[in-house]
Amino acid sequence: MPSPLFTLQNVCQQFGQFLALSDINLQIYPGERVALVGSSGAGKSTLLRLLNGTLHPTQGEIWAMERNLQDLNARSLRQIQRQIGTIYQQLHLVDNLRVIHNVNAGHLGRWSFLKALVSLIVPLEVKTATQALAQVGIPEKLYERTDRLSGGQQQRVAIARVLVQDPLVILADEPIASLDPALSRDVMDLLKNLSQPPRTLIVSLHDVDFARSHCDRMIGLRQGRILFDASPDLVSPQMMVDLYRLEP
Ligand SMILES: Nc1ncnc2c1ncn2[C@@H]1O[C@H](COP(=O)(O)OP(=O)(O)O)[C@@H](O)[C@H]1O
Ligand SMILES: [Mg+2]
Repeated sequence: MPSPLFTLQNVCQQFGQFLALSDINLQIYPGERVALVGSSGAGKSTLLRLLNGTLHPTQGEIWAMERNLQDLNARSLRQIQRQIGTIYQQLHLVDNLRVIHNVNAGHLGRWSFLKALVSLIVPLEVKTATQALAQVGIPEKLYERTDRLSGGQQQRVAIARVLVQDPLVILADEPIASLDPALSRDVMDLLKNLSQPPRTLIVSLHDVDFARSHCDRMIGLRQGRILFDASPDLVSPQMMVDLYRLEP
């Protein structure tokens, strides 16, 4: 068994008085494709932010690549974060820039400030950006203004940016929430293909069918707690009913 990519020990996340995650214990191994499922407010986005180190838990420990995230100085944390590519639900693209600049933002963890600045004026690494866009199926959009693209194409730009980063793990927060069913399938196929082992994928999903078809592990979160953590074929209809049950 390889060593875990992530280990969470007794993790709690509190926002004021509100307990968004309680007593989370889990390990994620290289090459796994993990779906986080659960209703809105269950704690999926919070968990993803804890994994990428942009949020520090109020209790417990988070280990990523055998380093305790809380023990790291800013520089070491950035080194770990270079290996963690996140696709946020809001995409965080700069609308009025051309696609290539948004894709190149995937280099920012590696580039000097000066190179990053120059790249805003003179597009750098055109070949890498073109390759990444080809991988996500829109190579012709390299010099298009990002806000002229459709929602599905913008989602692909966000994925291309992560490809340029070339991380060990991709975290994706509801990557298909705003897409129609056909596009959703394309984007999920893409994420699955791009996360061939040893690359790891952790994706939060509303659509349980895609969690089943595209992931090999499902973690059900309910009100900040893990309700189940199992391979999709072991997640029964009753478990799904319990996951989305309205009453406490
Ligand atoms: N920065 C924050 N401040 C206060 N409450 C927050 C913050 N972030 C998340 N929450 C709350 O924590 C809970 C879990 O949120 P979230 O992780 O976004 O859930 P999900 O992604 O599953 O919809 C929600 O009730 C949300 O309102
Ligand atoms: Mg969320």
